[in-house]
Amino acid sequence: MNKLKKRIIITSALPYANGEIHLGHVTSTYLPADIFTRFHRLKGNNVIHVCATDDFGTPILIKAEQEGKTPEEIVDYWNEVDRKDFQDFGISFDIFYKTSSIENIKLTQYFFLKLLEKGHIFKQTIMQPFCEKCKSYLPDRYIKGTCPYCKSIDQYSDGCDNCGKIFQLGEILDAHCAMCGSKPITKESEHYFLKLSHFSDELSRWLNLNKNLQPEVKNYVLKWIEDGLKDWDITRDIPWGVPVPLKEARDKVLYGWFDNHLCYISTALKHLSSKKVDGKIFWNSSKIYHFIGKDIVYHHYLFLTAMRMGVGEFKLPDFIPTRGHLILQGQKFSKSRGWYVSLRDFLNEFPPDYLRYYLSIITPYEQTDVNFDWDEFYSRINNELVANIGNFIYRTLSFIWSKFNGIVPEAKEEYNDLDTSFERMIWDIEEDVGNCMEKIELNKALKKILEFSDHCNKYFQKNEPWANERRSTNCLYLSINAVRSLAILLEPFLPFSAERIWKQLNIHESVYEHGWDSISKFMIKPGHRISKPEILFKKIEYEDIKRQKDKLKS
Ligand code: MF3
Ligand code: ZN
Repeated sequence: MNKLKKRIIITSALPYANGEIHLGHVTSTYLPADIFTRFHRLKGNNVIHVCATDDFGTPILIKAEQEGKTPEEIVDYWNEVDRKDFQDFGISFDIFYKTSSIENIKLTQYFFLKLLEKGHIFKQTIMQPFCEKCKSYLPDRYIKGTCPYCKSIDQYSDGCDNCGKIFQLGEILDAHCAMCGSKPITKESEHYFLKLSHFSDELSRWLNLNKNLQPEVKNYVLKWIEDGLKDWDITRDIPWGVPVPLKEARDKVLYGWFDNHLCYISTALKHLSSKKVDGKIFWNSSKIYHFIGKDIVYHHYLFLTAMRMGVGEFKLPDFIPTRGHLILQGQKFSKSRGWYVSLRDFLNEFPPDYLRYYLSIITPYEQTDVNFDWDEFYSRINNELVANIGNFIYRTLSFIWSKFNGIVPEAKEEYNDLDTSFERMIWDIEEDVGNCMEKIELNKALKKILEFSDHCNKYFQKNEPWANERRSTNCLYLSINAVRSLAILLEPFLPFSAERIWKQLNIHESVYEHGWDSISKFMIKPGHRISKPEILFKKIEYEDIKRQKDKLKS
């Protein structure tokens, strides 16, 4: 079998460099993207997973002002914190960089000039909100007010968190300065606009022809286009951003949403060039996946795509896997109300794979919101991860360790019906789970793995290997091979545990050398010596859950 290696570029939406990663971010974006990346690494494909901090724009500038620091200090700090959080959670980026990098600044300025040259950008004098008390223009998050569509209060002037609408300048109701609360006046300023409507037809065509996009998202994006795309103000009068590369606009910077998604490209190119690969060729011959949460659909389906269409040098997205928000015990996350769990909070209490398991199994490939529930977390970990998966692996390994001196036995009896149907299950599992993985239906894939492990337990139980020595050789030979299958199947979801299983199996090659396509093979031969087994997953005590729930209330 001589399979062609596929080229794949996976990106995760860039976290703003002004605060910690919380469970919502990892659920919709980083975890699914990481699982999908690991799957393709196991498939032997040429895949890279790219991410960076989103450094520019008002969110960071406001944070810097609040803390009396420079924006550079803020972004350097959060870039390090995020990097460490992701690493401890097992998110395995090939590169984690930053939007304020020289590479990204250059690429962004290049895009601006190209779009200008091609007539997609024009200049116009507009009235901008200005705070007389703070002596500054008030773009985006410098203004708070009420959403004109759903009437949610306390929204930023660039869009509504509640209904997802993006606002035009001056649209927000009851505008006030986010820094001092004053009512702004308006003042003239010259801005650059991207003529988004130039791309309406091309965007509709792309949406209609691209069969990989989720239909429910596609439909509402098409509706936005039908309603008419408005010109998009891409400059800001603030001191932090990519400088507009024109003499006449020296004190202006580009809007954060103009440069941030270009960092997918600039970062991928940087990584590839460090591997001596021609990045542009790689980009344009790859399948491209941008993993996002549903709050940034507009930016990815329209802004990002239109900008790439306009410049015409970098391939458009093939997939934009979009998942819903996470809610916590039935209520919206809110840091100010303490109804909140950061990734770091979680990692301080439980092993990373427990969270990866729970979030993976509850998060569908859909827009619907997902509920994090501490009681459900408790019961799924104890019943599924510990009592099902962990149990089968440990009982198989420890049986071989104690009854066969750690040496895998040869099957001594002819296969009976139990054996042959179990053998067939192992043959089928690679394709069964693989199909779901290809389709990014990761929760379904994990459920199939869980069912498989359940069958494994039943097979073991029915065989009563402790009662009959000859029969036990069949049972243990097949079971130990099922454990190897499980280790590879679980690697994308539970990388830390898969590594421990692999160590206990004592297989010389790495899990990647065996690879996804070996899952259904019987690679552990009679006579192979395993290592001393250890319990994989510890049961969670209910007190630990109660403590977490009490923390939320206080
Ligand atoms: N920082 C943005 C947010 O958290 C996401 C940026 S994703 C990118 O909403 F595509 F624009 F880079
Ligand atoms: Zn003010």
